[in-house]
Amino acid sequence: MTSEKIQRVGVIGAGQMGAGIAEVCARAHVDVLVYEQTRELAAAGRARIMRSLDRGVSSGKITEREREQAAWRLRFTSDLGDFADRQLVVEAVVEDEKVKSAIFAELDQIVTDPDAVLASNTSSIPIMKLGITTSRPERVIGLHFFNPVPVLPLVELVTTLKTSAAVTERAEQFAGEVLGKQVVRSADRSGFVVNALLVPYLLSAIRMVESGFATKEDIDKATVLGLAHPMGPLALTDLVGLDTVKSIADSMYEEFKEPLYSAPPLLLRMVEAGLVGKKVGRGFYEYADNGRVAKK
Ligand code: 3HC
Repeated sequence: MTSEKIQRVGVIGAGQMGAGIAEVCARAHVDVLVYEQTRELAAAGRARIMRSLDRGVSSGKITEREREQAAWRLRFTSDLGDFADRQLVVEAVVEDEKVKSAIFAELDQIVTDPDAVLASNTSSIPIMKLGITTSRPERVIGLHFFNPVPVLPLVELVTTLKTSAAVTERAEQFAGEVLGKQVVRSADRSGFVVNALLVPYLLSAIRMVESGFATKEDIDKATVLGLAHPMGPLALTDLVGLDTVKSIADSMYEEFKEPLYSAPPLLLRMVEAGLVGKKVGRGFYEYADNGRVAKK
């Protein structure tokens, strides 16, 4: 028996990734329920999505009517119990295995549809670790989006030793055909494909700054002009969030014990100092309210 088409999605977390995932789902005509812990965080998440939709209108990617319709499809809740009827849930909370595991265990008690797909947008945590916290690991999968989600076309699909073929097919069909993303598959290894390549590069750039090998501005300029990257590694670390880069590095180091994956002291100190990047206005660079670099 084929499963019903996915029309009701739940997104857990309305930070930069959760908000982006909720936005692309709403823009793809799907009913989206977003969970945030408090009303204040939910309001901040909605505002984040509306700013991005406004940007879509001003750059001519969507019409005003499409923006209004997308906004209508988005609802927010602070009660995970409201996720009972969801056909797909995408968890996009902080990159912390304990927090994510607790959410998957709770979702397992809440989501009633036996065909529902339980997905994580984790950047690096092996999906099996989340799957085993539920009574249905065959329905747990990784759906990893890229920041900014409305702009970057990729989704990594991560299957575990237990994910069923039907769930894999359903999740791939949703990401590819409903959301219009390009899908690549990855084995269930920390970092998956993109972060396994990206994070050692970002950490190497941080080590270069730390050792005085080159300035952050010159490192970024070199990769933009010499490699045609859209932004340099320090600016990208600011975009991803230094706390997130550290968590991904920790997770990859735990899995592979590879020295290149260990977080350098400069990254640790900046995270301890709360200088976690663009989302707080300061990381390697300082940002104005409009998100542009204010001070180098
Ligand atoms: N929402 C909607 N649209 C957005 C947007 C957002 N948040 N951010 C940018 N855009 C749109 C703009 O409207 C603009 O559209 P237009 O060309 O039609 O006018 C287009 O994207 C380009 O934006 P800007 O002109 O403002 O800025 P740039 O040209 O400098 O591009 C960027 C900004 C899209 C962030 C680009 O620099 C980029 O792609 N950088 C690399 C990002 C990247 O590598 N992301 C992956 C990070 S790794 C990850 O996410 C995995 C995780 O696990 C860590």
